Amino acid sequence: MSAMVNINGRLLDTEHAVISVFDHGFLYGEGIYEVVRTYDGVPFLFDRHMRRLRNSGAMIRLDLPVSDVEIERRVLETIAAAGLGTDGRDAYIRILVTRGVGEITYDPAACPEPSVVIIVKPHVDAPPSAYANGVMVSLVGVLRNHPGTVNPLIKSNNLLNNALGHQEALRKGAFEAVMRNYRGEIAECSTANIFIVKDGVVITPPSDAGLLMGITREFLFEVAQEIGVPMREQVLQEADLFGADECFLTSTTRELVPIVRVDEHVIGSGTPGRITATLLDAFRVRARVLVGGSTR
Ligand SMILES: Cc1ncc(COP(=O)(O)O)c(C=O)c1O
Repeated sequence: MSAMVNINGRLLDTEHAVISVFDHGFLYGEGIYEVVRTYDGVPFLFDRHMRRLRNSGAMIRLDLPVSDVEIERRVLETIAAAGLGTDGRDAYIRILVTRGVGEITYDPAACPEPSVVIIVKPHVDAPPSAYANGVMVSLVGVLRNHPGTVNPLIKSNNLLNNALGHQEALRKGAFEAVMRNYRGEIAECSTANIFIVKDGVVITPPSDAGLLMGITREFLFEVAQEIGVPMREQVLQEADLFGADECFLTSTTRELVPIVRVDEHVIGSGTPGRITATLLDAFRVRARVLVGGSTR
Protein backbone atom coordinates (compact mmCIF):
# COMPACT_ATOMS: atom_id res chain seq x y z
CA MET A 1 0.00 0.00 0.00
CA SER A 2 1.42 3.37 -0.95
CA ALA A 3 0.59 5.15 2.29
CA MET A 4 2.55 7.53 4.48
CA VAL A 5 1.95 8.02 8.16
CA ASN A 6 2.73 10.84 10.54
CA ILE A 7 2.90 9.83 14.20
CA ASN A 8 3.27 12.71 16.63
CA GLY A 9 5.06 14.77 14.01
CA ARG A 10 7.33 11.98 12.68
CA LEU A 11 6.92 10.81 9.08
CA LEU A 12 7.02 7.04 8.69
CA ASP A 13 6.35 4.53 5.94
CA THR A 14 3.74 1.82 6.47
CA GLU A 15 6.28 -0.70 7.68
CA HIS A 16 7.58 1.55 10.44
CA ALA A 17 4.30 3.22 11.38
CA VAL A 18 3.57 1.54 14.71
CA ILE A 19 2.18 2.70 18.03
CA SER A 20 2.43 1.25 21.52
CA VAL A 21 0.05 -1.52 22.59
CA PHE A 22 -0.35 0.59 25.77
CA ASP A 23 -1.97 3.39 23.77
CA HIS A 24 -5.51 3.71 25.11
CA GLY A 25 -6.70 4.06 21.52
CA PHE A 26 -5.64 0.45 21.04
CA LEU A 27 -6.60 -0.80 24.50
CA TYR A 28 -10.02 0.84 24.75
CA GLY A 29 -10.81 2.47 21.40
CA GLU A 30 -10.44 5.77 23.27
CA GLY A 31 -9.94 8.34 20.61
CA ILE A 32 -11.47 10.41 17.87
CA TYR A 33 -10.83 10.82 14.17
CA GLU A 34 -11.65 12.57 10.93
CA VAL A 35 -11.52 11.52 7.31
CA VAL A 36 -10.71 14.31 4.89
CA ARG A 37 -10.12 14.07 1.16
CA THR A 38 -8.41 16.34 -1.31
CA TYR A 39 -9.83 17.76 -4.52
CA ASP A 40 -7.11 18.84 -6.92
CA GLY A 41 -4.60 18.24 -4.13
CA VAL A 42 -6.28 20.59 -1.64
CA PRO A 43 -7.83 19.21 1.59
CA PHE A 44 -11.58 19.85 1.26
CA LEU A 45 -13.46 21.71 4.02
CA PHE A 46 -10.47 21.26 6.29
CA ASP A 47 -11.56 23.78 8.91
CA ARG A 48 -14.96 22.10 9.25
CA HIS A 49 -13.28 18.77 9.88
CA MET A 50 -11.07 20.39 12.52
CA ARG A 51 -14.14 21.93 14.16
CA ARG A 52 -15.80 18.50 14.35
CA LEU A 53 -12.58 16.86 15.58
CA ARG A 54 -12.35 19.36 18.46
CA ASN A 55 -16.02 18.89 19.22
CA SER A 56 -15.58 15.09 19.31
CA GLY A 57 -12.58 15.65 21.61
CA ALA A 58 -14.61 17.86 23.95
CA MET A 59 -17.31 15.16 24.14
CA ILE A 60 -14.78 12.68 25.54
CA ARG A 61 -12.78 15.30 27.46
CA LEU A 62 -9.78 14.97 25.20
CA ASP A 63 -7.91 18.17 24.44
CA LEU A 64 -6.00 18.16 21.17
CA PRO A 65 -2.32 18.74 21.93
CA VAL A 66 -1.65 20.61 18.66
CA SER A 67 -3.19 23.55 16.82
CA ASP A 68 -5.27 23.28 13.62
CA VAL A 69 -2.45 25.04 11.79
CA GLU A 70 0.05 22.42 12.97
CA ILE A 71 -2.30 19.56 12.01
CA GLU A 72 -2.74 21.12 8.56
CA ARG A 73 1.04 21.49 8.22
CA ARG A 74 1.52 17.80 9.10
CA VAL A 75 -1.26 16.78 6.70
CA LEU A 76 0.31 18.67 3.80
CA GLU A 77 3.75 17.31 4.64
CA THR A 78 2.39 13.75 4.75
CA ILE A 79 0.55 14.20 1.43
CA ALA A 80 3.79 15.39 -0.17
CA ALA A 81 5.76 12.50 1.35
CA ALA A 82 3.18 10.06 -0.08
CA GLY A 83 3.83 11.54 -3.51
CA LEU A 84 0.24 12.68 -3.84
CA GLY A 85 -1.23 16.04 -4.71
CA THR A 86 1.15 17.02 -7.46
CA ASP A 87 0.41 14.18 -9.88
CA GLY A 88 -3.35 14.67 -10.15
CA ARG A 89 -4.08 11.86 -7.70
CA ASP A 90 -6.18 12.86 -4.73
CA ALA A 91 -5.48 11.85 -1.16
CA TYR A 92 -7.44 10.09 1.56
CA ILE A 93 -6.44 11.59 4.91
CA ARG A 94 -7.31 9.97 8.24
CA ILE A 95 -6.49 12.06 11.31
CA LEU A 96 -6.67 10.20 14.62
CA VAL A 97 -6.15 11.48 18.14
CA THR A 98 -6.09 8.96 20.96
CA ARG A 99 -5.91 9.30 24.74
CA GLY A 100 -2.25 8.32 24.45
CA VAL A 101 0.09 5.81 26.05
CA GLY A 102 -0.35 4.92 29.71
CA GLU A 103 -0.90 2.28 32.38
CA ILE A 104 -3.78 -0.18 31.91
CA THR A 105 -6.48 1.78 33.70
CA TYR A 106 -9.45 3.87 32.60
CA ASP A 107 -8.03 6.81 34.53
CA PRO A 108 -7.09 9.39 31.86
CA ALA A 109 -4.47 10.80 34.24
CA ALA A 110 -2.37 7.75 33.28
CA CYS A 111 -1.92 9.21 29.78
CA PRO A 112 0.08 12.45 29.85
CA GLU A 113 0.03 13.12 26.10
CA PRO A 114 -2.54 12.26 23.39
CA SER A 115 -1.19 10.52 20.29
CA VAL A 116 -1.78 12.26 16.95
CA VAL A 117 -1.66 10.00 13.90
CA ILE A 118 -2.20 11.04 10.28
CA ILE A 119 -2.57 8.35 7.61
CA VAL A 120 -2.43 9.44 3.97
CA LYS A 121 -3.07 7.14 1.03
CA PRO A 122 -4.44 7.52 -2.48
CA HIS A 123 -8.12 8.41 -2.57
CA VAL A 124 -10.25 5.79 -4.31
CA ASP A 125 -13.66 6.77 -5.68
CA ALA A 126 -16.66 4.49 -5.28
CA PRO A 127 -16.91 2.32 -8.41
CA PRO A 128 -18.41 4.14 -11.45
CA SER A 129 -21.23 1.55 -11.49
CA ALA A 130 -22.34 2.76 -8.05
CA TYR A 131 -23.00 6.24 -9.47
CA ALA A 132 -24.37 5.00 -12.79
CA ASN A 133 -26.70 2.26 -11.54
CA GLY A 134 -27.11 2.99 -7.84
CA VAL A 135 -26.46 0.55 -5.01
CA MET A 136 -28.37 -1.87 -2.81
CA VAL A 137 -28.24 -1.27 0.93
CA SER A 138 -29.53 -3.36 3.80
CA LEU A 139 -31.58 -2.32 6.81
CA VAL A 140 -29.65 -4.17 9.50
CA GLY A 141 -30.61 -5.50 12.91
CA VAL A 142 -27.71 -3.81 14.72
CA LEU A 143 -29.05 -0.54 16.16
CA ARG A 144 -27.03 2.68 16.06
CA ASN A 145 -25.62 3.51 19.48
CA HIS A 146 -28.04 5.17 21.89
CA PRO A 147 -26.88 8.79 22.35
CA GLY A 148 -26.59 8.07 26.07
CA THR A 149 -23.94 5.42 25.40
CA VAL A 150 -21.26 6.31 22.84
CA ASN A 151 -23.03 9.27 21.25
CA PRO A 152 -23.00 8.98 17.43
CA LEU A 153 -22.18 12.71 17.37
CA ILE A 154 -18.69 11.72 18.50
CA LYS A 155 -16.61 10.62 15.52
CA SER A 156 -15.02 8.00 17.69
CA ASN A 157 -12.28 5.47 17.01
CA ASN A 158 -14.50 3.08 18.94
CA LEU A 159 -16.23 1.78 15.81
CA LEU A 160 -17.55 -1.62 16.87
CA ASN A 161 -21.17 -0.48 16.51
CA ASN A 162 -20.56 0.68 12.92
CA ALA A 163 -18.41 -2.33 12.04
CA LEU A 164 -21.02 -4.84 13.26
CA GLY A 165 -23.76 -3.06 11.31
CA HIS A 166 -21.62 -2.84 8.19
CA GLN A 167 -20.55 -6.47 8.37
CA GLU A 168 -24.18 -7.59 8.64
CA ALA A 169 -24.89 -5.68 5.42
CA LEU A 170 -21.83 -7.11 3.67
CA ARG A 171 -23.02 -10.64 4.47
CA LYS A 172 -26.21 -9.81 2.56
CA GLY A 173 -24.22 -8.55 -0.41
CA ALA A 174 -25.16 -4.91 0.28
CA PHE A 175 -23.03 -1.84 -0.38
CA GLU A 176 -23.89 -0.27 2.97
CA ALA A 177 -25.90 -0.79 6.14
CA VAL A 178 -28.84 1.42 7.06
CA MET A 179 -29.08 1.59 10.85
CA ARG A 180 -32.10 2.41 13.01
CA ASN A 181 -31.94 4.15 16.35
CA TYR A 182 -33.26 2.74 19.63
CA ARG A 183 -36.72 4.19 18.81
CA GLY A 184 -36.77 2.29 15.52
CA GLU A 185 -36.37 5.42 13.36
CA ILE A 186 -33.89 5.56 10.50
CA ALA A 187 -30.65 7.09 11.79
CA GLU A 188 -27.88 6.79 9.20
CA CYS A 189 -25.65 4.34 7.36
CA SER A 190 -22.68 2.69 9.07
CA THR A 191 -20.23 5.04 7.29
CA ALA A 192 -22.49 7.65 5.72
CA ASN A 193 -25.60 9.80 6.15
CA ILE A 194 -28.84 8.92 4.42
CA PHE A 195 -31.35 11.03 2.47
CA ILE A 196 -34.62 10.33 0.72
CA VAL A 197 -36.49 12.38 -1.88
CA LYS A 198 -40.29 12.50 -1.62
CA ASP A 199 -42.52 14.66 -3.83
CA GLY A 200 -39.56 16.84 -4.81
CA VAL A 201 -38.35 17.44 -1.24
CA VAL A 202 -35.05 16.05 0.04
CA ILE A 203 -35.33 14.75 3.60
CA THR A 204 -32.72 13.49 6.06
CA PRO A 205 -33.06 12.51 9.74
CA PRO A 206 -32.30 15.21 12.33
CA SER A 207 -29.39 15.12 14.77
CA ASP A 208 -31.80 13.93 17.48
CA ALA A 209 -32.20 10.64 15.57
CA GLY A 210 -28.67 9.82 16.81
CA LEU A 211 -26.23 10.21 13.98
CA LEU A 212 -22.94 11.75 13.00
CA MET A 213 -23.45 15.24 11.58
CA GLY A 214 -21.65 14.64 8.29
CA ILE A 215 -19.59 17.40 6.75
CA THR A 216 -20.88 16.30 3.32
CA ARG A 217 -24.43 16.45 4.69
CA GLU A 218 -23.81 19.99 5.95
CA PHE A 219 -22.26 21.14 2.68
CA LEU A 220 -25.08 19.53 0.70
CA PHE A 221 -27.66 21.63 2.58
CA GLU A 222 -25.80 24.72 1.35
CA VAL A 223 -25.57 23.40 -2.21
CA ALA A 224 -29.28 22.52 -2.25
CA GLN A 225 -30.23 25.97 -1.02
CA GLU A 226 -28.05 27.58 -3.67
CA ILE A 227 -29.66 25.66 -6.52
CA GLY A 228 -33.19 25.88 -5.13
CA VAL A 229 -33.77 22.24 -4.20
CA PRO A 230 -35.90 22.03 -1.03
CA MET A 231 -34.13 20.06 1.70
CA ARG A 232 -35.08 19.57 5.33
CA GLU A 233 -34.58 17.44 8.42
CA GLN A 234 -37.42 15.17 9.47
CA VAL A 235 -37.77 11.91 11.38
CA LEU A 236 -37.82 9.03 8.91
CA GLN A 237 -39.45 5.67 9.49
CA GLU A 238 -38.87 2.44 7.61
CA ALA A 239 -42.01 3.07 5.52
CA ASP A 240 -40.66 6.48 4.41
CA LEU A 241 -37.53 4.77 3.15
CA PHE A 242 -39.38 2.05 1.26
CA GLY A 243 -41.86 4.57 -0.17
CA ALA A 244 -39.26 7.13 -1.24
CA ASP A 245 -39.07 8.40 -4.82
CA GLU A 246 -35.28 8.55 -4.58
CA CYS A 247 -32.68 7.74 -1.97
CA PHE A 248 -28.96 8.40 -1.59
CA LEU A 249 -26.12 8.36 0.92
CA THR A 250 -23.40 10.93 1.53
CA SER A 251 -19.86 10.80 2.84
CA THR A 252 -16.54 12.54 2.34
CA THR A 253 -15.01 9.75 0.29
CA ARG A 254 -18.10 8.87 -1.78
CA GLU A 255 -19.87 12.23 -2.19
CA LEU A 256 -23.48 11.20 -3.08
CA VAL A 257 -24.22 7.61 -4.04
CA PRO A 258 -27.72 6.75 -5.29
CA ILE A 259 -29.53 3.96 -3.44
CA VAL A 260 -31.93 2.00 -5.66
CA ARG A 261 -32.77 -0.93 -3.41
CA VAL A 262 -33.13 -1.53 0.34
CA ASP A 263 -32.97 -5.30 0.72
CA GLU A 264 -35.86 -6.57 -1.46
CA HIS A 265 -37.57 -3.14 -1.67
CA VAL A 266 -37.00 -1.27 -4.93
CA ILE A 267 -36.76 2.50 -4.40
CA GLY A 268 -38.67 4.65 -6.88
CA SER A 269 -38.02 3.57 -10.44
CA GLY A 270 -35.09 1.36 -9.41
CA THR A 271 -32.63 3.67 -11.13
CA PRO A 272 -30.73 6.71 -9.79
CA GLY A 273 -33.11 9.65 -9.41
CA ARG A 274 -33.07 12.98 -11.20
CA ILE A 275 -32.79 15.12 -8.05
CA THR A 276 -29.98 12.93 -6.72
CA ALA A 277 -28.10 13.40 -10.00
CA THR A 278 -28.68 17.17 -9.95
CA LEU A 279 -27.37 17.42 -6.39
CA LEU A 280 -24.32 15.27 -7.17
CA ASP A 281 -23.39 17.43 -10.17
CA ALA A 282 -23.85 20.64 -8.20
CA PHE A 283 -21.89 19.22 -5.27
CA ARG A 284 -18.94 18.30 -7.49
CA VAL A 285 -18.86 21.66 -9.21
CA ARG A 286 -18.94 23.55 -5.93
CA ALA A 287 -16.31 21.33 -4.31
CA ARG A 288 -13.86 22.10 -7.11
CA VAL A 289 -14.69 25.81 -7.08
CA LEU A 290 -14.10 25.90 -3.35
CA VAL A 291 -10.68 24.25 -3.42
CA GLY A 292 -9.67 26.54 -6.26
CA GLY A 293 -10.04 29.51 -3.91
CA SER A 294 -9.38 28.12 -0.46
CA THR A 295 -9.95 25.11 1.80
CA ARG A 296 -12.69 26.94 3.74
C1 LIG B 1 -21.35 6.94 10.89
C2 LIG B 1 -21.07 7.97 9.84
N1 LIG B 1 -22.05 8.80 9.47
C3 LIG B 1 -21.85 9.74 8.54
C4 LIG B 1 -20.63 9.87 7.90
C5 LIG B 1 -20.45 10.93 6.83
O1 LIG B 1 -19.67 11.98 7.35
P1 LIG B 1 -18.82 12.92 6.40
O2 LIG B 1 -19.76 13.46 5.38
O3 LIG B 1 -18.32 13.97 7.31
O4 LIG B 1 -17.74 12.08 5.79
C6 LIG B 1 -19.57 9.03 8.26
C7 LIG B 1 -18.28 9.16 7.60
O5 LIG B 1 -17.37 8.45 7.83
C8 LIG B 1 -19.80 8.06 9.26
O6 LIG B 1 -18.82 7.23 9.64
